[in-house]
Amino acid sequence: MISTSVFYSFVGNKEDRGYEVKPNRKYSNLKILPKDISEEELMGVMRNFNASLGVKCSFCHAPGADGKMDFSSDENKHKDVAREMMKMTRGINKKYFKTKNPKEFQVNCFTCHQGNKQPQAMPPVIEQKR
Ligand code: HEC
Ligand code: HEC
Repeated sequence: MISTSVFYSFVGNKEDRGYEVKPNRKYSNLKILPKDISEEELMGVMRNFNASLGVKCSFCHAPGADGKMDFSSDENKHKDVAREMMKMTRGINKKYFKTKNPKEFQVNCFTCHQGNKQPQAMPPVIEQKR
């Protein structure tokens, strides 16, 4: 299943909303996503990442000592790259498309990644029209 519509808010903590948000106690290490995000919304974002980059959860998340995924851990370097990408994506939409609502973001992870870890830098060779 591919989630295309859910690209949840990268804004929404106290600074943006002007009031204290009640953190979702399931999550302990959210620095970009709103701390009161619901499980459904968070999973929508994560599945969107998987589909946009063509990866599994383990591409960004590291296993804990018990061998199971430790989603709160920052041991996997790709997780911090993803955080920077989230900030960049938010910035592009705000600055160049004047879009503040993340559900209407014109540029998102898939726009560049198209199902690849590394976005394609070269356009496909097209036949020259004569
Ligand atoms: C492209 C990288 C990437 C992929 C793929 C990814 N995640 Fe994440 N995940 C992140 C980032 C970045 C954060 C932290 C967001 C923040 O700081 O607000 C995060 C946070 C989380 C959290 C919250 C942990 C906490 O305690 O704060 C959970 C749970 C989670 N991811 C589950 C998953 C699952 C399940 C999958 C696969 C369906 C997945 N993630 C795929 C990058 C990714
Ligand atoms: C404007 C285009 C663009 C957007 C939007 C974008 N990315 Fe990227 N991303 C790139 C480029 C280009 C690279 C490769 C950088 C490099 O090679 O150093 C990259 C690399 C990455 C990597 C590292 C991959 C690797 O193999 O190490 C991750 C993880 C990633 N992006 C996650 C995301 C996520 C998550 C989003 C959405 C929040 C996103 N990106 C949105 C252009 C983009």
